[in-house]
Amino acid sequence: ERAVTLFEAVGGEPTFRKLVDEFYAGVATDPLLRPMYPEADLGPAADRLTLFLMQYWGGPNTYSAQRGHPRLRMRHAPFRIGAAERDAWLHHMRRAVDRLDLPPEIATALWDYLERAAYFMVNVMEDP
Ligand code: HEM
Repeated sequence: ERAVTLFEAVGGEPTFRKLVDEFYAGVATDPLLRPMYPEADLGPAADRLTLFLMQYWGGPNTYSAQRGHPRLRMRHAPFRIGAAERDAWLHHMRRAVDRLDLPPEIATALWDYLERAAYFMVNVMEDP
């Protein structure tokens, strides 16, 4: 007997796809974030984030099979991420989480992680 993973509890891959598709629909219209993505097509970036989140929450390890160890802070080093970028990222992610209509305790667990991860990704020092 083993604990049900959050990946399973939210309904597996389709739920993560929906989350990330909603998130990138917001990013696509964001004047601060959109220029940070070099590719014309956001699809491949959406796929990488989907696979990463699935893996993090106990789903298949497809992300690491394709991309190796996540090393997310290192992978974000080329991008300037300050408070404004972090808050814009979280704004679109908050809307995406809300669209899933998850049970409150699951939505809270997911959100707490995403918020912590976004703060962790900040890589420029700014005056308070
Ligand atoms: C990649 C921006 C936070 C997970 C990227 C890329 C950009 C970006 C521009 C490159 C697009 C691509 O080629 O995939 C940002 C900004 C953030 C942020 C502005 C604001 C805080 C996060 C957080 C997570 C995350 C919190 C995880 C919870 C990823 C992943 C990739 C990625 C998995 C693909 C890495 C790879 O395999 O190359 N991000 N990101 N990002 N980001 Fe973020």
